[in-house]
Amino acid sequence: MSAILAAPNRKGKHPGCYVGEIPDYSPGWPTSSWNRYSEVTIAMSVKLNQVLAELREDHRNLRLLLNLLESESASITVDDEPDFELMHDIMQYMTVYSDAVHHPKEDLVYGLIREHDAEIAPSLEQVEPEHLKIAELGTTLRNDIEAIISGTAVTRDRLHSDLQDYVTQLRTHIRWEEDELFPVADSLAAKNGAAGIDVGLFPDEDPLFGATTATSFRNLLTYLQKYE
Ligand SMILES: [Fe+2]
Ligand SMILES: [Fe+2]
Repeated sequence: MSAILAAPNRKGKHPGCYVGEIPDYSPGWPTSSWNRYSEVTIAMSVKLNQVLAELREDHRNLRLLLNLLESESASITVDDEPDFELMHDIMQYMTVYSDAVHHPKEDLVYGLIREHDAEIAPSLEQVEPEHLKIAELGTTLRNDIEAIISGTAVTRDRLHSDLQDYVTQLRTHIRWEEDELFPVADSLAAKNGAAGIDVGLFPDEDPLFGATTATSFRNLLTYLQKYE
């Protein structure tokens, strides 16, 4: 395995990739746009079972992206050239949707569960630290990829290790939620049909998998359509 990864050809598999341009959902979105949204936000309660269906759909999408990341990881270990722009697009999505929308929405669901189920409450204490940890690992990986794209050398070992840490942590977290936490929320939704989550704080659309794909994710969507 060679020691150093250098910047790839920027006109690679994703010509016109947004790096260097201003994306629709900027890296600063979790803070800046959150405030922008909150200024005009009105309360919008959505039934818990519908929110859970959306969160499960998110998990299906996230697993697909994690599989793609992992398939690029194989190129890192065999001295091949990973598709850095694809990896960057995926990590951009992870930052602006998974970290900024999916996880905060789950936190609201878990807050509701905590109010109704004292037994599960202790294990829910682990959720927010895990969401934070996933965001930190994601930022580390994204920084690696951005450094490579901008021409800074990053070792293959480091990139591979950071990618594996991220994929493993998020996969394990999703499995835990699906196996243990969401079923508790399902029970609450079944017992209390009126239970709802105020999603007014969040944007309506998933910027990649929603009805309208943000400009900055069109290359990734095209890739996914060919991949599936
Ligand atoms: Fe989560
Ligand atoms: Fe989740």
